[in-house]
Amino acid sequence: MKVLIVGNGGREHAFAWKCSLSPNVSKVFVAPGNGGTASEENVENVNISSDDIQKLLLFAKKERIDLTIIGPEAPLVRGIVDEFSKAGLSCFGPSAKASQLEGSKSFTKDFLNRHNIPTAGYKSFTESKPAIDYIKSKGAPLVVKADGLAAGKGVIVAMSIDDAINAVLDILEKNDFGDAGSKIVIEDFLEGEEASFIVITDGEKVLPLATSQDHKARDNNDLGPNTGGMGAYSPAPIVTEDMTEKIMNEIIFPTLKGLKKDGISYLGFLYAGLMIGNDGNPKILEYNCRFGDPETQPIMMRLESDLVDLILSTMNGSLSADIVKWSNDVALGVVMAAGGYPLKYESGKKISGLNKIDSENIKVFHAGTTTKNKDIVTNGGRVLCVVGKGRSTHDANIIAYSMVNKIEWKNEYHRDDIGYRAISRERE
Ligand code: AMP
Ligand code: GLY
Repeated sequence: MKVLIVGNGGREHAFAWKCSLSPNVSKVFVAPGNGGTASEENVENVNISSDDIQKLLLFAKKERIDLTIIGPEAPLVRGIVDEFSKAGLSCFGPSAKASQLEGSKSFTKDFLNRHNIPTAGYKSFTESKPAIDYIKSKGAPLVVKADGLAAGKGVIVAMSIDDAINAVLDILEKNDFGDAGSKIVIEDFLEGEEASFIVITDGEKVLPLATSQDHKARDNNDLGPNTGGMGAYSPAPIVTEDMTEKIMNEIIFPTLKGLKKDGISYLGFLYAGLMIGNDGNPKILEYNCRFGDPETQPIMMRLESDLVDLILSTMNGSLSADIVKWSNDVALGVVMAAGGYPLKYESGKKISGLNKIDSENIKVFHAGTTTKNKDIVTNGGRVLCVVGKGRSTHDANIIAYSMVNKIEWKNEYHRDDIGYRAISRERE
């Protein structure tokens, strides 16, 4: 089988690596891929952007690709699966219509409301005056969100009325997020602990994958601006078996039922970003119509069974729990980023130490890297995700950071505390 992975992040490196290990796969292409995918055995980068649906389609036809897996949300929301399906090509991910669950926050909030799925209270606005009046009447804290896709950066958790008003002005008046910010959602602030709950589904059958948590804030102790994710680990101790059952019954099944009722068929990974309240009740913060990044990296390290088999069985209607096998170990990934991310940062810095891996419990997934004159250089905000695998979160953390400490480039930045909540739970 020939497999094509669309995307260039750490998630796509992890998918490509995992697919390349499948006995039925002869070749994996990644479009456009990165410096890490370029150096995996049996994996080849293809110089086509993940947004260029027509070129990807031509490539898949020409190479007779048997299965295309879409990593990022943008091509999904723009209808890549619809286009591939029309051309008779096998492409894994939700349709454009189903991807609205990630593509539009106001669509999603209305969907949640209509189907009684627990989420934060909210109101949508296209004008700043009524939005500001609403903020003044509610008081802080509040969460202001750009309606469309903003690469994880369109959400402002405002602890004061002034911050909330400034966020509204930045999005609606200064157009900080372009078209994605022509509409905003203002949400009630939820307290609790976040978890990433990712399932694979054909719209009827559904299988929860290994649980995980990520750290979205840039700095230690979950402070600083929101990012795409600075680290993640699997499993998430807060998502116990009882909690999994609760999440399936209160969030995932009602979501699939709601989609069906609205006439939308969903095939693909579905990621529910949850806030688990101090009362133990989960509420949904967001859906993603894809796997998480960086959650994919530790989750793929724990997947002992075949990823391609899992995807194919979902596509042909034979999804069942015995298709997946997870390692009992914990995997923990630390994102190494370019200093300045998620704001301004520099690229083109030579990375050293990548070859110092001395254990099969370590894997370095690349995101913003590229090859230049045989060197690997930085080429993005999130540069690497270094994953360690161990018997506990504590062990996995020590193993991951032992490798992080060997890798260097000018102005590198990472958090020092990935997994701290899970580690303190283990101590209790
Ligand atoms: P989202 O992209 O909607 O998941 O938002 C990104 C991040 O902002 C989440 O992972 C949370 O950390 C935070 N966030 C979003 N919505 C809320 C909310 N209603 N209450 C508290 N924090 C939130
Ligand atoms: N790690 C969060 C996301 O993939 O959206």
